[in-house]
Amino acid sequence: MKMLAINGSPRSNGHTARALDTFLAEAEAKGYDVERIDLVDLNFSDCKGCRSCKTEGSCIIDDDMSSLYDKIADTDHLILGSPIYMGSETGIFNCFIDRLYAFLQYKEGGGFNSRLPADKSATAILVCGSPDGHIIYHYLTNRFTSILKGLLGIEDFSAFIIPGTNRLDDVRESVTFKQNIPAFIERL
Ligand SMILES: Cc1cc2nc3c(=O)[nH]c(=O)nc-3n(C[C@H](O)[C@H](O)[C@H](O)COP(=O)(O)O)c2cc1C
Repeated sequence: MKMLAINGSPRSNGHTARALDTFLAEAEAKGYDVERIDLVDLNFSDCKGCRSCKTEGSCIIDDDMSSLYDKIADTDHLILGSPIYMGSETGIFNCFIDRLYAFLQYKEGGGFNSRLPADKSATAILVCGSPDGHIIYHYLTNRFTSILKGLLGIEDFSAFIIPGTNRLDDVRESVTFKQNIPAFIERL
């Protein structure tokens, strides 16, 4: 079984990386092959909106997303992590999310079907500085549920926010983090 974590923070050793690494360590202990990819290390462009993915079956932009598409399709569990910047995800993470449009194909009569294998599970982890962030930014968990579950068809999906991150240790001490770890392990 494979687990792929995508880090949307521009910081490779920040709070988001720490949260993702903790989840990956739990998965590794359960026998998963784990990998973390920091988007900041990749070279990829914005979605051009050309819709070639709808006619060609895949994105025609030749950049580092090409191999990432394969890894996402191949993984059993996908973890997406981003810090909250100005009430949303980071710019680089938003660019990555837009590029997931390539996994959608037009459905007859309107809407989309997902090209991703249906048996995948996923988790989104959003990290923020505000101590009330899990309440204030709840709309972001709805946003990622509509993308991962609604559009990409990943039924086994869970999202949560880690608020109040000022020191690196705050991540593991966070109540929402501690609450979500056992539920995550149970899903593996
Ligand atoms: C440009 C910028 C914008 C931010 N905007 C918010 C925000 O709107 N709300 C919030 O609670 N925290 C905000 N933060 C704090 C980060 O979400 C927080 O420090 C997070 O832990 C950073 O994750 P990282 O260490 O993985 O980079 C912002 C930080 C930066 C640098």
